[in-house]
Formats: sequence, C-alpha cells, structure tokens
Amino acid sequence: MRIAALKERAAGETRVALTPETAKKFIALGATVAVEEGAGEMAAIPDAAYAEAGAEVLPAAKAVAGADIVLGVQAPGLDTLKGANPGAWVAATFDPFIQRDRVDAYAKAGLEALAMEFMPRITRAQSMDVLSSQSNLAGYKAVIHAADVYGRAFPMMMTAAGTVQAARVFIMGVGVAGLQAIATAKRLGAQVSATDVRSATKEQIQSLGAKPIFVESVAGIEGEGSGGYATEMSEEYQKAQAELVSGHIAKQDIVITTALIPGRAAPRLISDAQIASMKPGSVIFDLAVAQGGNVEGSKADEVVEKHGVKIIGYSNTPAHLAADASALFARNHYNFLSAFWDKEAGKPVLDEEIGDAIRLTKGGEVVSERLKG
Ligand code: NAI
Repeated sequence: MRIAALKERAAGETRVALTPETAKKFIALGATVAVEEGAGEMAAIPDAAYAEAGAEVLPAAKAVAGADIVLGVQAPGLDTLKGANPGAWVAATFDPFIQRDRVDAYAKAGLEALAMEFMPRITRAQSMDVLSSQSNLAGYKAVIHAADVYGRAFPMMMTAAGTVQAARVFIMGVGVAGLQAIATAKRLGAQVSATDVRSATKEQIQSLGAKPIFVESVAGIEGEGSGGYATEMSEEYQKAQAELVSGHIAKQDIVITTALIPGRAAPRLISDAQIASMKPGSVIFDLAVAQGGNVEGSKADEVVEKHGVKIIGYSNTPAHLAADASALFARNHYNFLSAFWDKEAGKPVLDEEIGDAIRLTKGGEVVSERLKG
C-alpha cells in the first residue's frame, strides 16, 4: 500500500494534504509514504521533516509512481497522476458540482475519486470532516483580518484620554465558521450579535454570549434541511429577514457573512443599500465570496470600498493559515483512512454509508448519486 501526496498546484493554495505527523502514522499502519519535494514549503514544513518521519521525498512523477492512494487538498490534475496504480483512490476536495468535467475525466482515467467535502455529517465522521476543520479556521481568520483592516479597536478601553467604545460585530450564518467567528470576536472584546435561518442556532449563539437576531414573525420556520444544512427560504421569510437585518446592520461596525446552501450559489444577504446605511470605516468580510458571495459587490481576494465601507473576501481563507489548516486537513485524511484500515488486507476498506457518500467515480463510471440526480 503506497500513499502519495503532491504539492498543491492551484493558484493561492498554500496547504498540503500530508504532514510529517500523519506520514508517520500511515507508516505505522504498514503503508509506504511518498511526498513530492517542496510539498509542505508553503505550510512551513521542510522536506527534511517528512524524511525524518520516514516518508520518501521525491519529484512528483516518482512520488506518484505505483501509488494506491493519492491525497490532496484540492483534487490534483490528471497530468500529475500518471503512474498511479490502476483504480487508485484520490482523496481530496473536488468541488464536484462546479468542476463536473474533472469528475468525468477522473472516471475516464479509471481512478476512484473520493470527495472529502461529501463526508456525511454524522457523529463518527466528525474527525474526518474537512469542511468543519477548515471552516473553523476560516471563521477565526475572517474576524482577525477584519479587525486588522478596521481603523478602530475591538474592546472597550477606558484610558486617561477617554473611553474607546467596543466594536459591534454581527455574524450572519452560524454554522461552523460563524460559531468560531462569534467566539473570536467575543475574545477580542467586541459586542457580538448573530443570525441564521436555522432556529437551532439561537441557543448556540446565546451560549457563546452573543445576541441572536432572528425573524420571529414568519411562523413554522426551522430553516434546516437534510444533514443539518440550511434550506432555501420562502420569499416571505427572505423579505422579513431583509427588513430585520437592515435596521441592525446600520448600527454595526463589522459584519462577517458565512451563509452557504450546499450545491447552490451563496444566498445574497447584504445589498448595496444596506452597505450605504453603515457608518464609514465599517468593514464587511464575505466568507462566501468564492461561492458567489453574500454581499453585493464583494470580489474574491480584493478589498472593495463602497460608501466608505471596506468589503473583503478571500477566495480561500484557510490557505491564509496554512500550517494549522494543513495539520487539520491531514488529520482528517488520516482519521478517515485509518478508521477503515483492514489489517489483514493491509489497506482501507470503506463501508457503504461513508463510501457511497464520498465516492464520485469507480470502474470508469460516475457513481455518486448526488451527481446523477
Ligand atoms: P454551511 O457552511 O453550509 O452554512 C453556513 C451557515 O449559513 C449555516 O449555519 C446555514 O444555516 C447558514 N445560512 C444559510 N442560508 C442563510 C441565510 N439566508 N441567512 C442566514 N444564514 C444562512 O454550514 P456548516 O458550517 O457546514 O454547518 C451546517 C450544519 O452541519 C450545522 O448544523 C453544523 O452544526 C452541522 N455539522 C455537523 C457535523 C457532524 O455532525 N459531523 C460536522 C459539521 C457541521
């Protein structure tokens, strides 16, 4: 069983899917491990650290030659996978709804694509969930970056020269990223409020010491679809939400938006008119910018200034915390493969619940139900 990891080739990608820690653990399971030279460079992991852990550090083609499993953060291009064993597994994020052509190409190449972002949201898979591990860091970084761009302080400060008021921070979308954003803004001393369409989040917001801002007037809203994800809301709800949020946004200094609906474009939560209602010097961080954005006019990897408000969005926020993001991503891979490791076979054997959920291609076909439907 040979496990290989390559240097990520996507623009702006700084993470790596294997760390010396996980290389060592895979070797302890009986695998041989190979990594491309320089793969960990952007995440502050020198080649020597991999070699010390027992991994072979090789040029890409040699690392991948004879591999049974290739690990990636983002799915590697097929040109880099030549030489992998027939039917080799490639575990990475595939962005399969958008990058459908790539999925078809993997099928044609006879590879087994395992989409880590399709990991089911079930208790035993929590430690394998790359969306959670990366969103958590993204929520943290969004607040830190917004705080840096904001020309004022976050905590209330009583000084001899007078009092500095605490910043008001509003988090829209309270999934994994939003919860971490609330916690981070609270730790920095801001006055924090938050909203979501899923009513279950109200208690979570309160338990972090923040104020929930919720639409109460539209009855029967749970906002939760399958797997704990949000569903698209009714027009009536969207209107009530826009009215409620408009009044609130006008009083905020920082807004962090994180709202996503799986398989769809991100919902639009902040309009140009709402941006215009904010005080000059306010900051918005749009964590959904790569999925179309929650904020009108936000642009990936740019700071756009509108009506005196700075609107920021990184297209790949976890990549701005490469070392931690890689450590967690690599552990997700290890937790996944080791949980299914069959000692006798000397390789992982997936069960139906998780295997069927994440497998996109097998035996030359696209097999994922989510892609067929
Ligand atoms: P996500 O990244 O898909 O969406 C972020 C947040 O935006 C969600 O809370 C969603 O409800 C919210 N949202 C969507 N449309 C909105 C709108 N129009 N206005 C305001 N907010 C809106 O969500 P994430 O972070 O992936 O979490 C989804 C759920 O999965 C949560 O319930 C989370 O606790 C659960 N989860 C379960 C895991 C497990 O059991 N293994 C692991 C990770 C998350």
